[in-house]
This record gives sequence, structure tokens and C-alpha cells, in this order.
Amino acid sequence: MVDVESVDFFTEPALVNDPYPYFDELRGRCPVHPVAHPGVVSVTGYAEAVEVYRDEQAFSSCNAASGPFPGLPEQPEGDDISVLIERYRGQLPMSDFLVNLDGEIHAAQRALLRKLLTPKRLKDNEERIWRLADRQIDEFIGDGVFEVGRQYSNAFSLLVIADLLGVPDADREEFRQQLGAEVPLPNVGETAQVSRNPLEFLFERFFAYIQDRRREPRQDVLTELALATYPDGSTPDLDVVVRLATFLFAAGGDTTARLIASAMRILAENPEYQDLLRGDRRRIADFVEETLRTESPTKSDFRLVRTTTTVGGVTIPAGTTVIMHPGAANRDPRQFDDPEQFRLGRGNVREHLAFGRGAHSCPGGPLARAEATISIDRFLDRMTDIRISEAAHGPTDARRYDYEQSFLLRGLTELHLTFTASS
Ligand code: HEM
Repeated sequence: MVDVESVDFFTEPALVNDPYPYFDELRGRCPVHPVAHPGVVSVTGYAEAVEVYRDEQAFSSCNAASGPFPGLPEQPEGDDISVLIERYRGQLPMSDFLVNLDGEIHAAQRALLRKLLTPKRLKDNEERIWRLADRQIDEFIGDGVFEVGRQYSNAFSLLVIADLLGVPDADREEFRQQLGAEVPLPNVGETAQVSRNPLEFLFERFFAYIQDRRREPRQDVLTELALATYPDGSTPDLDVVVRLATFLFAAGGDTTARLIASAMRILAENPEYQDLLRGDRRRIADFVEETLRTESPTKSDFRLVRTTTTVGGVTIPAGTTVIMHPGAANRDPRQFDDPEQFRLGRGNVREHLAFGRGAHSCPGGPLARAEATISIDRFLDRMTDIRISEAAHGPTDARRYDYEQSFLLRGLTELHLTFTASS
């Protein structure tokens, strides 16, 4: 067992494949506990994480995606560092992106998205998501074997968002080629390089689309996005709209691709679920939910303490970085019975925190759920006897799975499956 007092979560490779014993150990000591990284407090308890997520006043999202890297350039002092945050927030990585904004600016930009990610839009898109799933599966259905991320979920999850945003048909293939490739994440041990900017292609494309639609409105989704107004009726700058659109790919691509891979691993490891879900498709939604709980794709989510505050009886000074792990909160035994157990039909499963909570909670949750549910549905229709490839992952009693060396996301580096194509 690792020593939680000395091991650095951000740089310790031993925590990558299985971080759960570390989370349990921390939670066992205290659900709000300092970690072996200066100025960082870890929240591993469910109730405590909800408290942090819900308290926008005390916890700033300015570091939501970057955590303590690089942190503020000035040593925080006193019990209220609001002035310091406003002075330096522009210097933090991805500072203009929705997830890192606070207060009114955040609320106004989020309202722009609300029109796009409506239940109606999702319903309208559902049929196309089925087609996108089938199109990916067509490419390897004759092979009897595939690697889930590279051949299915990475491209699929990005193309679904392209479809949602109304990327014109003529550009889809280019999107597929540009976005199908793996996006590098900051590695454990390479924490200084948090600022990733794989979004240049998207930024350029959406800049051109939105500019064009503002000049010449058409009957399409991009026009709706281009002409969306703030709640007070004013028009956002072009940059704001473009950033929102591109951020959807960053926030919704990797995460959903990892969810689908985790779900497929569980399905392939447990053939009895394949029969059960094939016989009762309505239960696929439960299966996806329990996957979200047990294998939450967002591994870490951060806040900066704006005003000295108390969570779960522990006082956290202003200037502290709080690291939350949805996967730790989702295995808190005070919230979920037998939390290690994958249990289909768990009564309170939808209380999980895989999509966060509060003002920043994931607006793409319904889409991610639909993507995973439709994917499993199509796999079960088009394949039988879905198995883990022993050639790639070893025999049942000695499996080898590797997870990405990222402290932000939890995802398999590779998942090779074998199957029989349905006749
Ligand atoms: C399984 C898939 C997904 C997971 C696990 C996930 C997880 C999360 C979490 C935990 C947050 C909260 C971050 C915070 O509070 O700091 C978040 C925010 C966000 N997610 Fe997702 N997400 C997923 C899919 C998606 C999809 C498909 C989209 C869009 C199409 C999306 C768009 C967003 C956006 C825009 C935000 C920022 C919201 C805000 O700051 O107000 N996500 N997501």
C-alpha cells in the first residue's frame, strides 16, 4: 500500500492503474485531507465534494482544469484572496474557457450553451448518433477484433459533437481525420505541461463558420449558435462563441470515449451482462450509470479556495487548491453500499458525481449517456460473444490493463476485444 502522507498523486506512476486504494486510504483518514503536494487539500468524501461543488462563493473555478499548475504567481495571504484571483486569473491555463469562469460571466456564457444542449436537440440528433455508431462499427465488423478507443470511441465521440454543432457534411471527413487521432494529455510526472492546446484546428474552423453565419444567416445549427444572445439580449463577441463551441469537443470527447471503453471492458469481462442487456435494452441505461459511478472518467477536478472556509469540519485556508476526485466520492461507503461492487440496478446510482454538481455541473451529461447507451445497443445488436482479447490483455486470471498516465482523466490506454459478427 502506498503511503498517502508521502506519495505525490500528481507524479506517482503507481497510482495510475488503480488509484482507488489511495482514495480509500485518504478518505479513511479524513474525507478532507492535505496531500503530499504543497498547498493542496484532497476531498475524497461524497458529502464533502457536494459541499465544495455547491459553494461557488468560497471556491473559485479559475483552476478547475489546471489545479496547482502553475498556481498564482504571488503567495496568497489573508482569508479572502478575491483580489488576487481577479488580478491573475487571466494568466492561468485555459482561463477563458467556460469551466474556469466564475459568477456572472460564467452564468451568462453557460446560458448560451443551454439553447444548444436541449432535450429536443438531443432527441433530434439521436437517429444520427445511431448512424455514426454504425458507420464506425462497419469499419471493423468483418475483422472479429478491434481496439475500442482508436477504432471506435475516440472518433465517434468527437463526430457526435460535430454533428450536434451542425458541422457541414462536406467537412465531416476532414474533422474525422483531424480529430480521430489521440489528443495528448498531461502525463503523470510531466505536470508542468498542463496547458494543452490541441484545439487550434477547431478554433480556426469555428471562427470561419460563426463569422460566415453572422454575415449570412442560414437555416442551420451553426446560425443558431452564431446568433445566440446573452440573457440581457446583448450579442457575445465572436471569440466567446467560438471558444464555447471548441470547448465542447475538449470537454465531451475524451471523457465520453473513456466512458465507452470502460463500459465495454466491463461488458466483455462479464458475458452474463451481454445476455441480460440484449434481452432487456432498457437496462443499458442502468449499466452506463453504474459504469459512470465505478469508473468515473474525470479523475480530478479542482477549485481554488477564495475565502477561508470549513468543509466537513476541516478549515481550509484561502489560497489552497482543492482537488476532488469524482471516482473517490463515488466509492464513498457512507453514500453507496458496497461501493467497490458493480451492481446493476443500484437504487441511488444516479446520485453519483461523475458529472460534478452545482453551477458547473456537466451540461453534456445527457449526450454522454445517450452516446454510451446507443453504442452498447449497437454492439449488442451487431456482435455476439464479445470478449477481452487474451492476446492483448492476458488470460482471465492474469489480466493486464494499462491506464493513461494522466491525473485529469481515467481511461484505458488500449482495450482490444474479440467478437463474432451477428448474422
Ligand atoms: C462521460 C462523459 C463526461 C464526463 C464524465 C463529464 C464530466 C464533467 C464534469 C465533472 C464537469 C464539471 C467540471 C467542474 O465542475 O469543474 C463537466 C463540465 C462540463 N462538461 Fe462534461 N463530461 C462528460 C461529457 C460531456 C459532453 C458530451 C459535453 C458536451 C457536449 C460536455 C461538456 C461540458 C461542459 C461545457 C462543461 C463545463 C460546464 C461549466 O463550466 O459550466 N461534457 N463535465
